[in-house]
Amino acid sequence: MKILILNGSPRLNGNTSFALSAIAEGVSKNTQHCVEIINAAKLKVGGCTACDACKTNGGNCIMRDDSRSVIDKIYAADAVIFGTPVYWWGISAQLKAVLDKFYSKTAQFKEQNKKIGVIAIGASAFPGKQYELIHDQIKCVCDFLGWEMMFGLSFSAAAPDDLKKSEAAVKEISEVWKKF
Ligand SMILES: Cc1cc2nc3c(=O)[nH]c(=O)nc-3n(C[C@H](O)[C@H](O)[C@H](O)COP(=O)(O)O)c2cc1C
Repeated sequence: MKILILNGSPRLNGNTSFALSAIAEGVSKNTQHCVEIINAAKLKVGGCTACDACKTNGGNCIMRDDSRSVIDKIYAADAVIFGTPVYWWGISAQLKAVLDKFYSKTAQFKEQNKKIGVIAIGASAFPGKQYELIHDQIKCVCDFLGWEMMFGLSFSAAAPDDLKKSEAAVKEISEVWKKF
């Protein structure tokens, strides 16, 4: 199985990055699956302009940036984990730019059956509306595309190294590989 992890945080030493690296490590150590992390903040992905060129060219975004390559990687993956910091009750703009480009392959994605996970990390205490909103958004995407929402995790952490200080969170994250 190919597992693609999409990191929506621009803080590459922050909480989301820590969680996603630990998940990738768990998968590599304990399973035969291939795992790759893509940092959305390192990509150049322009906002979708709804030009609809993708609707007549076989599902390819025509922007001369990283849109097409990241969507092709998602297309090739069996499972995708979305990791995001909570930004204003939602996912980060970097991750949203990639998500919007799903539009280029909506038809092709609907023919697939991917497994999806989501991890949202915010400064607010858990539970909270922001975690619900993010999970619901990704669940709606899954329902629309006919993909399987495998898991959703949320953690509360504010400073970049807060998450790694929580023994309970670290334990939960270290066991995510078991879901695959
Ligand atoms: C632009 C911005 C908006 C934020 N909005 C929220 C929010 O609505 N709710 C929340 O709980 N935390 C919010 N936060 C805090 C971050 O989610 C929190 O610091 C998180 O740990 C960042 O994750 P990271 O270290 O992976 O980047 C916001 C932070 C920034 C920079």
